Amino acid sequence: MSQQPSPISFLVLSVARESAQSSTEQKVDALIARMTLEEKIQMVHGVRRRGFIGYVPAIPRLGIPELALTDGPAGVRHGPGTAFPAPVALAATWDRSLAHEYGAALGAETKAKGQNVLLGPMVNIVRVPEGGRNFETFGEDPYLTAQIATAEIRGIQSQGVIGEVKHYAANNQEKERLNVSAEVDERTLREIYLPAFEAAVKEAKVGSVMAAYNKVNGSFSSENAHLLKDILKGEWGFDGFVVSDWGATHSSVGAANNGLDIEMPTGEFFGDKLLAAVKQGQVNQTTIDDKVRRILRVMMRFGFFERPSQVGPIDYTAQAQVARRVAEAGVVLLKNEGNVLPLDISNFKSIAVIGPYADRATSGGGGSARISPLNTVGPLGAIAERIGNKATLRFLKFVPGNDLSKSDPATSGAGLLDDAAQLAKDCEIAIVFARDFETEGADRVSIALPEEQDEMISAVVNANRRTVVVLNTGCVVLVNRWVSTAPAIVQGWYPGQDDGTVIADVLFGTVNPSGKLPITFPRARQDLGIANPEQYPGVSGLGHYSEGVFVGYRHFDKNTITPQFAFGHGLSYTTFEYSNLKLSRSRIRAGESLAVEVQVKNSGGREGAEVIQLYVQDVKASVARPVRELKGFEKLMLRPGQMKVARMTLEARSMAFYDPTRKQWVVEPGQFKVLIASSSRDVRLSAEFEVFS
Ligand code: BGC
Repeated sequence: MSQQPSPISFLVLSVARESAQSSTEQKVDALIARMTLEEKIQMVHGVRRRGFIGYVPAIPRLGIPELALTDGPAGVRHGPGTAFPAPVALAATWDRSLAHEYGAALGAETKAKGQNVLLGPMVNIVRVPEGGRNFETFGEDPYLTAQIATAEIRGIQSQGVIGEVKHYAANNQEKERLNVSAEVDERTLREIYLPAFEAAVKEAKVGSVMAAYNKVNGSFSSENAHLLKDILKGEWGFDGFVVSDWGATHSSVGAANNGLDIEMPTGEFFGDKLLAAVKQGQVNQTTIDDKVRRILRVMMRFGFFERPSQVGPIDYTAQAQVARRVAEAGVVLLKNEGNVLPLDISNFKSIAVIGPYADRATSGGGGSARISPLNTVGPLGAIAERIGNKATLRFLKFVPGNDLSKSDPATSGAGLLDDAAQLAKDCEIAIVFARDFETEGADRVSIALPEEQDEMISAVVNANRRTVVVLNTGCVVLVNRWVSTAPAIVQGWYPGQDDGTVIADVLFGTVNPSGKLPITFPRARQDLGIANPEQYPGVSGLGHYSEGVFVGYRHFDKNTITPQFAFGHGLSYTTFEYSNLKLSRSRIRAGESLAVEVQVKNSGGREGAEVIQLYVQDVKASVARPVRELKGFEKLMLRPGQMKVARMTLEARSMAFYDPTRKQWVVEPGQFKVLIASSSRDVRLSAEFEVFS
């Protein structure tokens, strides 16, 4: 039995914590007092060092260790390593404990590679579906993003590695990313684009924050006084250090005075120029001391002084297991008409696998989040292994323009489509794989699947009614051309190094899918909004966030647009029943919290997990508010027939909106609704409560 600490031991504990803090501060101050100005300047910028992404040298004279910074959000980019599933797949798990494990595994690999700062997680919100880095995000919702991010950061930092949450702030597109100014009003910033950063700082105590490339309301993120000084370091009390994105620093005096602590990757602005600015009195010594204090404080808190970075052994088997479990839990079963899935090997004798990339793993996206995996398993190989000699497996690679069987290039595309259709017809089951290519540095030109893969899928689903479509995309794609004909659709994201094993486990039912969409799939691009050039990619360097807080499902709900697949949607091989929704009270005072519980039963025939989602609706507000907003979730694993209770707490903030005039979060008295749902458009139970002042 766990023993409750007595009030006296609580007191002892908190006194001990305070005195540890003050002794850290004293040690830091003592060190600073011994440092020369040149040594301080050396600490506030990176230097180029072979094999390192970001490096701040040690100061051996004072025993100050180095900082070795490495990417990134989907694996540790310091030589080949574990290619974890893309962060969007982690978000699709809706599982805080898996996010913690993912972070702990990233942290362990970072440490074993002799690095001590991990450049992640990335918590920018998916605003435009074209965004080249959407696969690195946790989707379109600030609450889900904050929940996954805080769990992951705690995991990373549990390994003695500093997490660096990025990119602060409103870094939502790659097009013009170095120049565009996100013109975003204060309420939208606070409600949509900042909550995950706020939670990273306040709840997960993240050690470092990366300032984005883009401007926010006219000022570069790396010298944005409102973002860095007023909000991050002021209101939120962030006591760690702010690092510029690579090459995102634009000034010495402005950046230094407005809150940037470290320039990366070199000292163009924070080297000699900053030294001169201090000597000329344009930047105060105390400002430099504050930067150094922030760095040393975090280094000390993470034990760097006692434990210098060291290369150590990595348990790649354990790493691979975490990667695989996350990938499995992140797979979203979008459609399963007539229970085509799971496939029962005793029910068919022939199977077709079709797709240009079906023979290799989709191990991740491109850019700084790209990892070179040590081993990969592609879908074709994994499916062949499951089938063994129990059925015939036939594969068509489908590379348009590369159709060797047809001599006339003009007809080769059509010939290949005929081949795909014929093969699908000849086999009892067809599995067709399609993917896209997201990367940092470029947005997608279209959210349709590239390379004639839509035509390929259409040809296959029209030829065989027992077809499964597997999508390996980093974000949403258009599925309108074949969605109604395809009986089964699986969203696998970028599953990482074990792609094939994971997808085969889902297709053959070893794994019961339990992922839910962290982003809304539209029926058409225009349904998503943010479609005029002023909004995206921006005109004359300004990207107007004129849609305000109505991003993702908030936009669909406001405009009563039916999504193709709703935010939060995801099927299972079993079914769940919801009952007995209870609120702890029916009336609360503004500022109070509320406990919510609901019973969920597995009413189907096999074990499975359900994500119980809680949305809040402010029935009547004085400002335009979203129809519903995600404010709680719980993932429960249930055996057939088993019933469990999901318990969630609604904090005062869950009912609040941000009032820029009063500069505070406001809970308005009146009626509120709690919606308990299996997706944002599949509400199972609801209840009302009243807030009074
Ligand atoms: C990216 C960051 C990354 C950094 C270092 C930049 O281009 O925007 O996310 O951490 O490079 O590789």
